[in-house]
Amino acid sequence: MWSIVCLSLFIAVSISVVSVNASALSVLLRGEERAEEVLLRDLITGESCPSPDPSLYYQPVIGIVSHPGDGATGRLSNSTDASNIPASYVKFVESAGARVIPLIYNEPWDILSRKLDLVNGVLFTGGWVKKGLYFETVKKVFEATLARNDAGEHFPLFGICLGFELISMIISEDNDICEPFGARNQASTLQFTDITDIVGSVFERFPSELLIRLSTECLVMQNHRYGISPRKLQENVALSSFFKILTTSADENNEVYISTAQAYKYPVTCFQWHPEKNAFEWGSSLIPHTEDAIQITQMIANYFIREARKSNKRPSSQQVRDNLIYNYSPTYGGKAGYGYDQVYIFY
Ligand SMILES: *[C@@H]1O[C@H](CO)[C@@H](O)[C@H](O)[C@H]1NC(C)=O
Repeated sequence: MWSIVCLSLFIAVSISVVSVNASALSVLLRGEERAEEVLLRDLITGESCPSPDPSLYYQPVIGIVSHPGDGATGRLSNSTDASNIPASYVKFVESAGARVIPLIYNEPWDILSRKLDLVNGVLFTGGWVKKGLYFETVKKVFEATLARNDAGEHFPLFGICLGFELISMIISEDNDICEPFGARNQASTLQFTDITDIVGSVFERFPSELLIRLSTECLVMQNHRYGISPRKLQENVALSSFFKILTTSADENNEVYISTAQAYKYPVTCFQWHPEKNAFEWGSSLIPHTEDAIQITQMIANYFIREARKSNKRPSSQQVRDNLIYNYSPTYGGKAGYGYDQVYIFY
């Protein structure tokens, strides 16, 4: 497999060489093994393109639940019906090779339920609302996610920041399970609980140097007032039997909270931090934008969509297109110099 990847790279390089220096190419080719020359010729003439794994789905779609409000504290809309999805979450999903269907939280459940049937995974965003219809919708979508997995579909879920807090409240059946933390607008490290847990987790394909830098440099963005301490999780049987702690982080007062958690029995991964912000949000000077930080956004997104490709749902393409987020336009809310850069607003 790797030799084919390397060979493809070699071909890509070689083809650009052909026009400028054909004799250099033939020198290169003569240096190769004869079998590889044959393989190379087959690849060039397109005679043996290996098929992608037929058990995976290459048109995955992710449902993102919208959050109440305009996402810009009234600068864009004060409508009480308004809800939003920050575009950074949409770009995060799109950057890994999937499309997005918005699950507008205040639509009737029969419509939401039909949209859920069109997606191969779900994402709960950050935000601040923890009750009312929004909480009820998140709860129903979460329960539907577990039910689909129980029925044999591989149906991944990412819960980010508020999404993690809501899932913790739902599982523990305790709306006060979250504790206050001072991690508003702060970049932090991730401390791995057990290095052997990295296999099969969202960090599974991270290069080891990047894993080391994650634990020693502040490469991930925190923006939360609440969280769950490892002790709180361990004290709650429902929560500790559902989640394994992958990483912890410390807030401004050195209080430790769970920063990444993975479900034992479900493809559910939760983040108290914001993998989508490094590449796609600019409203705080503290958001890391180094090449390592951007690679973190990309690798976390790649894992999510890799999981979504395992979903066996093959919804109608037209119904998918009719509901995609491309039916809406994002609004630039970041001109004020803070908050989300772009938001999709739904009325
Ligand atoms: C929303 O309400 C606030 C406070 O009354 C006001 O300053 C703002 O202009 C309103 N936003 C819009 C988009 O009308």
